Order: sequence, then structure tokens, then C-alpha cells
Amino acid sequence: MLVVSIGGSPSLRSRSGVLLERCKHWLQGQGVEVVTFQVRDFPAEDLLHARFDSPQILHFLELVEQADGLVVATPVYKASFAGALKTLLDLLPERALSHKVVLPIATGGSIAHMLAVDYALKPVLSALKAQETLQGIFADDSQIAYGEGGAAAQLAPALQQRLTESLELFHSALARRPKPLDPSVLNERLLTARWSI
Ligand SMILES: Cc1cc2nc3c(=O)[nH]c(=O)nc-3n(C[C@H](O)[C@H](O)[C@H](O)COP(=O)(O)O)c2cc1C
Repeated sequence: MLVVSIGGSPSLRSRSGVLLERCKHWLQGQGVEVVTFQVRDFPAEDLLHARFDSPQILHFLELVEQADGLVVATPVYKASFAGALKTLLDLLPERALSHKVVLPIATGGSIAHMLAVDYALKPVLSALKAQETLQGIFADDSQIAYGEGGAAAQLAPALQQRLTESLELFHSALARRPKPLDPSVLNERLLTARWSI
């Protein structure tokens, strides 16, 4: 099983990034392969000029195509998801998320915009034909405390519990997702099918 995780924060020290990292470790513990992309690691020119043919973008598109599911994490910026993330999602082909399960994650300065995932990010995932987009996780900044001197960040117990529950749901959704039928297998089945009335 392959999951592509996408970090939408332009910041190196990132609360949404902390949650993405926790998801990665949890999924790896279940034997899931996780490949992580951060929007800030793509050349800005590729994103701003929508360079569909840049090597980094092509590599990203290839991994998304192979993925069974995606975890998409973003900070809330101006009551929506991060614009940098949108520039990356805009480079995905129209049906890029069909047959895939998506777990959205957002962190915000307060709970004022806790629905940003629902009214802003989910319509974009839906436009990309995501098979199933889970409820997702929202955390406000007070629920994620950075560790001092390189220590691991601390999550509020309620957030930790929501995260684990969402990951369990995500993992079972990945396991039950319908696999796209290989056209050569379909052809073979049609040729060898026995019909009875
Ligand atoms: C430019 C900017 C705009 C923001 N706008 C909002 C906002 O509209 N609503 C909100 O709740 N938090 C807002 N915040 C706070 C961030 O969403 C919050 O600190 C988030 O956890 C940052 O995520 P990150 O550490 O992964 O970058 C904003 C922060 C910045 C830098």
C-alpha cells in the first residue's frame, strides 16, 4: 500500500507538518509505504508558472498516480487552505484522485475557521474525483506544543485520540477501496467468459 503525504505549509517549523509526520509514523507502523512531499520543496517557478513538465512535478504526479491514498495537511490561511498548496493541486490532472482515499488535516490559530477543510479544501479534492474523502482532522495551535531543544512536539490528548481514530478509519478505507480494473485483465475476462441463460 502506498500513501502520498502532502505538506501545504510554507514554514519549516510547522504544526500541520507535525501532524503529517505523526500520520507517517503511524501508517509506517502498519506496513504502509509513505512518500512525503512538501510544497515548499518544489521550485517556486514550477508552481507559479504551472510547469506541468518540470521533473519535480512529473515525479510528484507519478507518485500520486501510484498511490492508494493521500494525506493532505495545510495551515489555515485567510479562512482557507494555503495558497501554495493550491498551486500544487492545480497541477494534478482532472481525475488524479479517482480510486483514492484522502485524509485531510488542517491547523489554525483558533477554531474560527475549523470548517475551512469542508468549504475550501474538500471541493478541490472532489473536483479531482477523490473516491472517498474522510472527515479529517482540525487542530488549533494550542493543541500542538513544540518540544524544547529538539524534543518531540506534544499533542493535546483529545487531538491525539482524534488523530489515531482518523488514521484507523483511513487505514480501513485504504484496505477496502475498489481497485481500478486493469484493461488487459478485463479483456481477458471478456474473451474467456462462459455465458449461460
Ligand atoms: C498568513 C497567515 C494567515 C493565517 N490565517 C489564519 C486564519 O484565517 N484563520 C486561522 O484560524 N488561523 C490563521 N493563521 C494561523 C495558522 O493557520 C496557524 O498558526 C497554523 O497552525 C500554521 O500552520 P503551520 O505551522 O503548519 O504553518 C494564519 C497564519 C498565517 C501565517
